Formats: sequence, structure tokens, C-alpha cells
Amino acid sequence: MSTTSSDPTVAVVDGLEARGWACLDAFLAADEARELAAECLGAREAGAFRRARVGRGSGKVIREDIRRDEVLWLEEATAGPAARRYLDRLEELRLGINRRFFAGLFNFEGHFAVYPPGAFYKAHLDRHRGTADRVVTAILYLNDGWVPEDGGRLKLWTTPGVQEGPVEWIEPRLGTLVVFFAGDHWHEVEVAQRTRASVTGWFRVRG
Ligand code: OGA
Ligand code: MN
Repeated sequence: MSTTSSDPTVAVVDGLEARGWACLDAFLAADEARELAAECLGAREAGAFRRARVGRGSGKVIREDIRRDEVLWLEEATAGPAARRYLDRLEELRLGINRRFFAGLFNFEGHFAVYPPGAFYKAHLDRHRGTADRVVTAILYLNDGWVPEDGGRLKLWTTPGVQEGPVEWIEPRLGTLVVFFAGDHWHEVEVAQRTRASVTGWFRVRG
């Protein structure tokens, strides 16, 4: 059953339970999200980002035909104050998901992602073939004043397991959070016409 709650954690968990995904405007207040955006873009200016790769382990490769974003993995030790506060919010979310689903999520691994103009990410699932550790995807968008002409929407196939049927189009607006079961929902990022920033990551189980 779905309820609308003013508690964002409850709203996300309700959405996951009812549909397998949730999207919340203003999961972060605008000033918090702007501070996080400044940390992200500051680190990129400083040259800390790397081209994102596909695959896993030693098989990771740059594939410009599949994805063109640049990433910086978040580490508790080196994260700025806004990133730490956001990681604390995600910790609340992790505990809320565990309480509702007995999911056994034990941590979050995530990165800042920047899509330069012209970048995209083709349709994919977030769970690597033959693995099951990434259970829930959480993406927070950091783009102030994003307008439809800027493109860069997330296209989310809402039917679990298949890249067909109804789709949800989500604009990457400042403070919006989208959460979904990582192994279930196909998704892609359409071409961004201007620099598009986010924090993307996964709640994981051991193994
Ligand atoms: C990803 C991803 C979607 C987005 O990084 O795996 O699908 O909207 N990102 O940024
Ligand atoms: Mn993805």
C-alpha cells in the first residue's frame, strides 16, 4: 500500500514498496544541494574526476559509445561538509529500507557524476552480471535552474526486469532524489545539453 508521507525516508520506502521506485523533489533543501553542487564542481575544476568506465574489477573499460560521464568516488575521509551531511541522510535511508524490507543493506558506495554537454548513458541495469551486491540505487541531482531544453533526463522503465512498457522521465533538478531497485529497473540518461551534476550510488549487501 502506498501512503504519502512528509518524512522523506518514509516516502522513499513507501514508493519502493508500492512500485519499486520513488522520486522526491526537494529531498535536499536548495541551500544544502547548492553547497553539495559547489563541492562537486569544485573537485572537478581541481582535476579530481576520471572518465567513467563500464564493467567491473580488472575488466573495467572506457566505452564512449555507452557512457560519457566523469566521476569522483566519495570517501568518508575526504568528503566535504555537504557531502558528509548527504551521506548521513543516506544512512537514515539505509536504516529505513532495512527496517521495512529486512534487506540487510550494510553500506553505500557512490560517486559524484558530471555529464559534460553532449554526454549520455545508454540503457542499462545497475547490477553487474553475475553479482547481487548492489540492491538499491539512489541518485541526487545538483542542477540549479535546469530547464527542459537542457535535456539530460533520466528515462526509467517502470516495469521490473524489462526494457519495455511505461517509462518515467525525470528531470535532474536541484535537490531531486530518485531511488529504485538496482537489479530491476532499466534506465538511461538522455544527452545533456549543459553540464549535469549528481551524486549516484548504491546500497549494498555483503557478498
Ligand atoms: C548511473 C546512472 C543515472 C542518472 O550512474 O548508473 O544510471 O540519472 N545514472 O544520472
Ligand atoms: Mn545506472
